[in-house]
Amino acid sequence: MAQNSLANLSFLFTLLLLSLSALTGESRPPFACDPSNGKTRKLPFCRVSLHIKDRVTDLIGRLTLQEKIRLLVNNAAPVERLGIKGYEWWSEALHGVSNVGPGTKFGGDFPGATSFPQVITTAASFNASLWEEIGRVVSDEARAMYNGGMAGLTYWSPNVNIFRDPRWGRGQETPGEDPVLAAKYAARYVRGLQGNTAENRLKVAACCKHYSAYDLDNWNGIDRFHFNARVSKQDLADTYDVPFKACVVEGKVASVMCSYNQVNGKPTCADHDRLRGTIRGQWHLNGYIVSDCDSVGVLYDNQHYTTTPEDAAAATIKAGLDLDCGPFLAIHTEAAIRTGKLSEADVNGALANTLSVQMRLGMFDGEPKRQPFGNLGPRDVCTPAHQQLALEAARQGIVLLQNRGGSLPLSTRRHRTVAVIGPNSDVTVTMIGNYAGVACGYTTPLQGISRYVRTIHQPGCGGVACRGNHQFGAAEATARQADATVLVVGLDQSIEAEARDRGGLLLPGQQQELVSRVAMASRGPTVLVVMSGGPIDLSFAKNDPKIAAILWVGYPGQAGGTAIADVLFGTTNPGGKLPMTWYPQDYVAKVPMTDMNMRADPSRGYPGRTYRFYKGSVVFPFGHGLSYTTFAHSLVHAPAAVSVPLANLNAFQNSTIFNNGVRITRTNCEKLNLGVHVDVKNTGDVDGTQTLLVFSTPPAGKWAPHKQLIGFEKVHVVTGAQQRVMIDIDVCKHLSVVDQFGIRRIPMGEHTFHVGDLKHSISLQAALEEIKS
Ligand SMILES: *[C@@H]1O[C@H](CO)[C@@H](O)[C@H](O)[C@H]1NC(C)=O
Ligand SMILES: *[C@@H]1O[C@H](CO)[C@@H](O)[C@H](O)[C@H]1NC(C)=O
Repeated sequence: MAQNSLANLSFLFTLLLLSLSALTGESRPPFACDPSNGKTRKLPFCRVSLHIKDRVTDLIGRLTLQEKIRLLVNNAAPVERLGIKGYEWWSEALHGVSNVGPGTKFGGDFPGATSFPQVITTAASFNASLWEEIGRVVSDEARAMYNGGMAGLTYWSPNVNIFRDPRWGRGQETPGEDPVLAAKYAARYVRGLQGNTAENRLKVAACCKHYSAYDLDNWNGIDRFHFNARVSKQDLADTYDVPFKACVVEGKVASVMCSYNQVNGKPTCADHDRLRGTIRGQWHLNGYIVSDCDSVGVLYDNQHYTTTPEDAAAATIKAGLDLDCGPFLAIHTEAAIRTGKLSEADVNGALANTLSVQMRLGMFDGEPKRQPFGNLGPRDVCTPAHQQLALEAARQGIVLLQNRGGSLPLSTRRHRTVAVIGPNSDVTVTMIGNYAGVACGYTTPLQGISRYVRTIHQPGCGGVACRGNHQFGAAEATARQADATVLVVGLDQSIEAEARDRGGLLLPGQQQELVSRVAMASRGPTVLVVMSGGPIDLSFAKNDPKIAAILWVGYPGQAGGTAIADVLFGTTNPGGKLPMTWYPQDYVAKVPMTDMNMRADPSRGYPGRTYRFYKGSVVFPFGHGLSYTTFAHSLVHAPAAVSVPLANLNAFQNSTIFNNGVRITRTNCEKLNLGVHVDVKNTGDVDGTQTLLVFSTPPAGKWAPHKQLIGFEKVHVVTGAQQRVMIDIDVCKHLSVVDQFGIRRIPMGEHTFHVGDLKHSISLQAALEEIKS
């Protein structure tokens, strides 16, 4: 009782403090090195003029073992005697500042933050500068909230796992199924978040997760905490690891998160070869490696990977883990050291990685107000410009899947009354998907359409999983009265989410029947708007002559309804392309979600995964997306033959090369860049944006994908005009294939490029290079 009232009192006190700071707009006190603290401000680790490395060494030298151990976890304890406050490492910013992690809260001066479309939608824009721009805006808002005491500076975003299986509940969080697309997204979004500040400084620290081969949450009784992903060296090297490598090497991310699952019998957070070997050794991560939340506990408690908890603590830290999201390392690390399984030096190594990131963020530089970004505050969150970018991102991410006889765009003149029907037609939070925050505000599809024309609304279904059809009659009656019908259907987090994979690919509940019946009853054209993260088997709608057009809008974010209406009425000409394959339902009947193989294996009836390896029928292919205009492409310039220089070629090597291709480590990759120039002409009668996807088909061989995206570029072309697009191709990176040992090789012979309807072959030949004496 007494304790209770004490807790209440402290709760009230916290509230009072919060509202006081809200009233005065006061900022947070310094995290460490407070200039008003005479005891600590002169300590070497507080000296901004020293190298971060030396400051970190100084600080570690002052900490006791117990203090160090309490810094190995996400809710790091304060070290009051050194003037260091506690810190919550866990914040999220997947597509806007989010309150999913305990490090960030909304309220007071910060009631919400700009909620951008879910990542799968933004990926569909294929616009790398948009991704970076969103990262820049999100980190402005994050810094503002940090300054106001409401958020951290370490964000465990983005999620760059490959969207391998269409059923994955978290596929929505990712940039899709293609490694080149995911790699580009990872590097650019991270660059936007972390900022281009002075050498080695960070605006916020991003984190690429979940390393690696994590893309199953809960399917058919198998969950991520127990799943052992059996992955070939080949698939790791040319699919699963590709976005992580780009995130570290090109994006220079400050953190990587290891995953819950095992890879080939080893929990990823205890895998020395992968953490210390690959991430630090080969990719040179400048930052820290963090566990997924409670994943160290999971590898001990659920996977029984070690016999004692001390062994689990020792195994992970020795493997290269620096920070535990969860309490496990705070509890068990001391015993691991006492029993000689781990040394204090191992702990120092982990702390050097986390403390360096905090120093790079400026957390040890004293007064936050005097630092870069110190002036960002409440008025920098949800600004009109930021909200406009959220709208722009939604417009760019919408994909026009089908448009019978040019039924879209609708016309405000001919379609004066529009029936708006469907379980997602008037939703708000559904539009922001998972790992979201509190949006600045919403425009629902119904509200967006109502800005153009008179609307009549009927949900038709009580939610996406609706059982009965008792609302169908009213929906049909509405469609009968209107000049056009817009049906907004799809999924939400009750169907696909973290810890929730789908069982199949069909529209859930009675939605399919609702769509068909309303389309049948409609007086005017029926447009299907599909709101979902994962792909849906829409064969029934695609083949229904009563359905005039189909749009996929992903989870379009806070401004989704405006963007949808802008596309429906043609003030925005859609240019998005699908970042994943839309499979038919019978695909998932044939493929267990647990089968990690990317490549098809006809001997056991396994069809392979993604457009790179699966050749069967699809509902809509990867890269599909229509426009209200038409484009013609012509090739301006592309080499016909390229020599791949090799030193010291002998007859034996020549025959290996002839059969297997050139190992990329044996040639000079820097010299092997090709430029392909394409002219894009807008041959229709409205302005539009063309997204050029360049694919390559390598010479036939057992390792090669039959098609691989090697580059993409987006151009806006006004009607009648022409634009030249240059696509740079890095031969080692893009024209190589990976052999069964995980080695990247460039196959010699004809590589065929596809851009739109163009095809062009480039012949690669190994050439003996003159050896300079
Ligand atoms: C390499 O082998 C190919 C195919 O056998 C042959 O045509 C070519 O002349 C050889 N080149 C050299 C440099 O030996
Ligand atoms: C890409 O996105 C940026 C940021 O919204 C925008 O300014 C640019 O026009 C877009 N590119 C194209 C070709 O649409």
